[in-house]
Amino acid sequence: MTASQTGISTQAVLSMRSGGYYSERTYGAKQAIDKMLPLVKDALKPQPAQTGVVRVADYGAADGGTSREMWFKAFQALRDGGDAREIAMTYTDLPSNDFSTLFRTMQGLQGDAALAYQAELGNVFVYGCGTGFHVQLFPAETLDLGFSATAMHYLSVKPCEISTHCHAVGAEGEEAAAFAEQARADWERILLARAKELKSGGRMICLNFGIDDQGRHLGATGGQHMFNLFDRFWTELRDEGRITAKEYERATFVQYYRTLEEFTAPLTDSSSPVSKAGLKLVDAFSTYTRCPYETTFAESGGAMAPAEFAKSLIPTMRSWSETVYLTALDERPAGEAQAIVDEFYQRYEDFVAAAPEGHAMDYIHIVVVMEKA
Ligand SMILES: C[S@@+](CC[C@H](N)C(=O)[O-])C[C@H]1O[C@@H](n2cnc3c(N)ncnc32)[C@H](O)[C@@H]1O
Repeated sequence: MTASQTGISTQAVLSMRSGGYYSERTYGAKQAIDKMLPLVKDALKPQPAQTGVVRVADYGAADGGTSREMWFKAFQALRDGGDAREIAMTYTDLPSNDFSTLFRTMQGLQGDAALAYQAELGNVFVYGCGTGFHVQLFPAETLDLGFSATAMHYLSVKPCEISTHCHAVGAEGEEAAAFAEQARADWERILLARAKELKSGGRMICLNFGIDDQGRHLGATGGQHMFNLFDRFWTELRDEGRITAKEYERATFVQYYRTLEEFTAPLTDSSSPVSKAGLKLVDAFSTYTRCPYETTFAESGGAMAPAEFAKSLIPTMRSWSETVYLTALDERPAGEAQAIVDEFYQRYEDFVAAAPEGHAMDYIHIVVVMEKA
């Protein structure tokens, strides 16, 4: 089935779990973001003599919890450097996002109030934008810094269902090619939109899931392969008649993990529309962030039971994947769909508890730093 036949856009099939569940259970994503502080500080150098507004955007921010400490430190560094300019921070995400938790968190009404930079630092103004990042979101040439973490692997539409796997990393033939082409076109649209928004000299820092030069990606760094296991348990449910063949196929993640070459191609080709729009590559590299739940288990020296480890690991996978499975079952009553999805994750948890070796959700990110000429 093609995207126009499925009619499935990203907006319909994804959202992080709300109420703070996402950032509370996604500590690895926070650790990956925290590593970006030096790049962000380099892009936002204190300018004590300047007046005006520093305009910053965090694209695909979810509930804002994972990037909050990094932004606190970046803005604090501006103030410490004598830069008193007003700061306008806009968090963007899809309209389905839990912006309410985001605003509560930034105002210090939820989570660690000490990091609520809107309340703690002077002259920082926080806004939300509920339009997807594939289009221009800010007036031309108004943005000093754009930042996006772990979000731009989501495609604007599902180009087709994947008939033999749940994710593009396991797709083959024409289905794999359709995802690659959708990802190429989406990345170009994302970059052209940012090229319009950024001021001359403004930077965009992206930290995206991708495939590194060793072929590693999220949940597949040498041990157990998370997406193959998702597929294994979903296939079991189909083969046992618990879900239909159509529901099996519909659980196709609207995601694509680009390689470093795929990320940088529009920026290094001087004849591309992106280069012509003035966006230049500053740096690109891959990073590995070890799964914090697996680390805790490994460092417990046997004190942590395998069942306890399994109970800590599955929620971090669930925080971003559950919507895909619930959406695949959306023709069923909600309670019935939830029960099947609960069983799906329970099978994964039981599998980890029985033999915990090699299970982890390690992160592989490709970092791309760009500047508007
Ligand atoms: C895995 S979360 C990452 C959240 C946060 N940036 C982090 O690194 O922890 C991905 C986020 O991207 C958002 N997202 C996906 N597609 C999007 C789009 N087209 N425009 C804006 N946000 C999008 C999702 O709604 C979700 O909040």
